[in-house]
Amino acid sequence: MSDLSKNYHLIDHEYDVVIVGAGGAGLRAALGMSAAGLSTACISKVFPTRSHTVAAQGGISAALGNMGDGDHWKHHMYDTVKGSDWLGDQDAIEYMCREAIPSVIELEHMGVPFSRTDDGTIYQRLFGGHTIDKGKSMANRACAAADRTGHAILHTLYQQCLKHKTTFFIEYFALDLIMDEEGSCRGVTALCLEDGIIHRFSAKTVVLATGGYGRAFQTCTGAHTCTGDGGGMVLRAGLPLQDMEFIQFHPTGIHGAGCLITEGVRGEGGYLLNSEGERFMERYAPNAKDLASRDVVSRAMTIEINEGRGVGPNKDHVHLVITHLDPEIIEKRLPGIAESSRIFAGVDVMKEPIPVAPTVHYNMGGIPTTIHCEVVNPTDKNPDAVVPGLMAIGEAACVSVHGANRLGTNSLLDLVVFGRAAATQAAKVVKPGESHKPLPKNSADFSLSRLDRLRHSKGNLSTADIRGNMQQTMQSYCTVFRTDKLLTKGLSEITRVAGTLKDIGLTDRSLVWNTDLVEALELENLMGQSVVTVGSALNRKESRGAHATDDYPDRDDTHWLKHTVAGSTDLKKVDIKYRPVKLKTLTDEVETVPLAKRVY
Ligand code: FUM
Repeated sequence: MSDLSKNYHLIDHEYDVVIVGAGGAGLRAALGMSAAGLSTACISKVFPTRSHTVAAQGGISAALGNMGDGDHWKHHMYDTVKGSDWLGDQDAIEYMCREAIPSVIELEHMGVPFSRTDDGTIYQRLFGGHTIDKGKSMANRACAAADRTGHAILHTLYQQCLKHKTTFFIEYFALDLIMDEEGSCRGVTALCLEDGIIHRFSAKTVVLATGGYGRAFQTCTGAHTCTGDGGGMVLRAGLPLQDMEFIQFHPTGIHGAGCLITEGVRGEGGYLLNSEGERFMERYAPNAKDLASRDVVSRAMTIEINEGRGVGPNKDHVHLVITHLDPEIIEKRLPGIAESSRIFAGVDVMKEPIPVAPTVHYNMGGIPTTIHCEVVNPTDKNPDAVVPGLMAIGEAACVSVHGANRLGTNSLLDLVVFGRAAATQAAKVVKPGESHKPLPKNSADFSLSRLDRLRHSKGNLSTADIRGNMQQTMQSYCTVFRTDKLLTKGLSEITRVAGTLKDIGLTDRSLVWNTDLVEALELENLMGQSVVTVGSALNRKESRGAHATDDYPDRDDTHWLKHTVAGSTDLKKVDIKYRPVKLKTLTDEVETVPLAKRVY
């Protein structure tokens, strides 16, 4: 036992699988693994039904064709490849779009209270970038439970986990992966927030389902808990992250507050107006208009604002209008956004426009995985070299099904399809009941020394000071429109801010509900990902999807049709490698979507 271990109370556990995170992906994986007879633990820093999936609003995509529009999973696949600006892997996209249909039907059978058509089937609405037959018309593909779809799914999945006897460790903060000398993952450590006891989990497979890192930015639609804890753990284990330069701005965050106003509002007929009362999206996307892909709409709004056609005293946002919609539709299909608009913008949506601005919403990048959710650490010889014992799913992962830009509603789908795929894969490779290899010697020491260092830190900067500097830097330099100059300054600034982590000082030294300590641990996770994000963005010399640079305005498939794979061990330098994009489909049932200019 090391000196540090003597200072902390440590409890050991053994499970076949340990899932970190209890959002949609984590819970879907947990229920599948438990149902397959694997002893399954799920660790979550919040109560499962408070995970950020609960905030997903507009819908989950699946080409069910319930609205009689002749939808097909192949149309969904085409739209997703185009939406990704061809950076998404087409084998994974084929898998996701095909599996969408059984996955959503399965959710319905589990009890998700979807809204209904008059025929009693699942109600489906329009959403940006989702079309029939390569853009001929818009597709009603978003399966919706009013505008609280994530809430409905999350609660149902949690009930299913309880039914299948998943063991939950609730309000436990995962600290670090336990890696062995061969580079395999052997478990994970966690801090119980209630009593400060450290728990060491030995697992045959660890699944990271920790969500995105939106809180690296000043304004985002993500909860305060969206601190990308899995990505932080992966970087500290010396593993890389993929395509981190691609940050999605949702066009309609409430101005100032950042809360999400679902794209489903535009799906139900809402539209955007500038200060001249013009429906400006008609100029930018003549066909899809307000239902173009998110990156396209966010850029158009930013141009309107930058050119002086924004609304409000500072002309820094635009209006989203639904006053023309039937109040019954608003009450039935959009009750949540009516409430958020009232609370956060003081607006009655039946009578007034909603003030909105592009807001950080989603990380297309994350922990690189195979289509079977196994984490990869690319080598020169094998871009798909698997890290034994480690999986990642959901927003934390990059499979990659979203490439350079995610379509709305493909996020809930990603959670469910790949949560399910992770369970199938674990059931194949993990032998229930087989004994665990002993953990590496002093396997908790890395986490303990980090925790101990932060807990007793006496520097002159608070966690909030450093976090504020990080968020301001990310918001100013890693934004909707980028330039080499901006990103060069951004990288030097974010590495400088990362350097100030050594000056952190905590005031609470206890181990019981020490939120100061937890926020510092979260800050370390956010900071690693911020550095890698800016480094990856500066490195990519083209515009693709959400990465729009004025210096390189066009997509450059000759040089940049490749995934960025980037890590940083010291937060001073970003090490960059690449993985090829998979253009080949998974089966012969569908052809590769050929490279084309992306217009809506
Ligand atoms: O606009 C929305 O409801 C968000 C959906 C999504 O990000 O998938």
